[in-house]
Amino acid sequence: MDYKSYLAERVQIDGVTKEEIAETIALPPDPALGDYSLPCFKFAKILRTSPVRIAEAVAASYPADGVISEAKAVNGYVNFRVDRKGYAEGVLSRIEKEGPLYGSSKEGEGKTVCIDYSSVNIAKPFHIGHLSTTVLGGSLYRIFRRLGYHTVGINHLGDYGTQFGKLICAYRRWGDRAEVEKGGIHAINALYVRFNEEADEAMENEAREYSRLIESGDREANELFDRFKDITLRYVKGIYERLHITFDSYAGESFYLDKMQPVIDELKEKGLLEESRGAQVVDLEKYGMPPFIVLRSDGASLYGTRDLAAAFYRKQTYDFDKCLYVVAYQQNLHFKQLFKVIELMGKDWAKDLVHVAYGMVSLEDGAMATRKGRVVWLEDVISRCVNKAKEILAEKNPDLANKDEVAETVGVGAVVFGALYNSKIKDIVFSYDKALNFDGETSVYVQYTCARAKSVLAKADGAKEGGMLPPGDAEFELIKALGAFPEAVVQAAKTYEPSVVARYAVDTAQKFNKFYIDCKIVQAESEELRAFRLRLTRATLTTLAAALSLLGIGVPEKM
Ligand code: ARG
Repeated sequence: MDYKSYLAERVQIDGVTKEEIAETIALPPDPALGDYSLPCFKFAKILRTSPVRIAEAVAASYPADGVISEAKAVNGYVNFRVDRKGYAEGVLSRIEKEGPLYGSSKEGEGKTVCIDYSSVNIAKPFHIGHLSTTVLGGSLYRIFRRLGYHTVGINHLGDYGTQFGKLICAYRRWGDRAEVEKGGIHAINALYVRFNEEADEAMENEAREYSRLIESGDREANELFDRFKDITLRYVKGIYERLHITFDSYAGESFYLDKMQPVIDELKEKGLLEESRGAQVVDLEKYGMPPFIVLRSDGASLYGTRDLAAAFYRKQTYDFDKCLYVVAYQQNLHFKQLFKVIELMGKDWAKDLVHVAYGMVSLEDGAMATRKGRVVWLEDVISRCVNKAKEILAEKNPDLANKDEVAETVGVGAVVFGALYNSKIKDIVFSYDKALNFDGETSVYVQYTCARAKSVLAKADGAKEGGMLPPGDAEFELIKALGAFPEAVVQAAKTYEPSVVARYAVDTAQKFNKFYIDCKIVQAESEELRAFRLRLTRATLTTLAAALSLLGIGVPEKM
């Protein structure tokens, strides 16, 4: 049950809506005060009376029931105490019913959310800079799906641009089919880097010619282009698999080449297009922005033109209620311009376009790893973290079975969690040691807590599990945390912040560990108590696993 709405339904304050009351209800800083609390300060103005009076009136008129056992006014707050047994039964039975899909809701029924994330560039490195967009997008995809939305994951591939002409030119000169097949993305990237280092005027011209050939549909040029695209996709899909990331569409920039004209025509028709030094632009000066360039003076389209066509295509194809772009804040201006142009075209769905911006990720030992001009490949970061996890696990638990599998789950989880734990807009410095700290605010800590819960359940060895007793303090703190999960999922979706779920997981793991220290579980004083605590342990495991899975992180059997 959602207690905030339950309380709001029953609290009467003249001139204040139920929604407002529900929003104002908070968790008291000290659980000794109560389980929920309604601060009455902001109602004082409307009612022209003191918060103390309002709180007293609310408390006095609150109808007693079996759900809320007490409503007490204290200094302008109404503190509510819930009936612990009733509350606990509600929370635990919901978790048992929903299982791994705990936190499901009908909020998104009939609504579609498109999410543009990862959006890698063909033939270019898949580097640490792509970590956040990939895992943030992947997590938002799961979070919205959990809330009942139809989700469309889109990898807006960077598969258009001058790099392909350069690549073909370099390949023709220095490349070799077998070598490229074997070396994959790294071989392709090496060719591209070499072009940039060595190309002279003649090669640049040749590259331009190849780019033109690709566009005009030349078979040979396109065959090469497709091969480079295949190799890149095969490579990134391997990494997506490790990160548990999926997409519904790989429609990249080149997909929109034949879909731009109608949009350009509409811009023209609406009088929004003007000429500026030979280029076709939409003037945005009135909105304090530089012009949005639609066609260059040579008639070529731009990144923005393709994005414009993509937005229209997505609206037509998916009829989205929201379209999210999970892209670094460096592109703030680009998206502000794009959305403004669509708004100026009179499309009311411009308001449904959201740039989900995020900060930069760098490595703690970045200076060493990046060396001169060399990028840090995401794959290397993942592998290194998995190897470190393997070392740590070998030290902590030398007899562990399936070492490699566990190290993969722990190491990959640490990279993902490292990118998701902080509010997304913050720049983050990734540290292997911090990410793999068993006692930190880490996925490892949460995974370890799950492993602990599993081992408790294993030790119980088939003892009865279930039932309900009046929860004591440590038990009740944990149950309240478990009950707060659905709300955390809603909040994460509303703010596009998987960090809400990540923090939730750490907080709940801490509460479980407090319960574990305070309360004997398998050795409980009575069979009934043991059964109830085992039930609570299993519900915690379900909830923590559900939280981690929304982030794309798994739970090892043992650690
Ligand atoms: N490929 C682009 C980049 O690496 C990101 C594309 C983001 N999505 C979009 N629809 N513009 O910068």
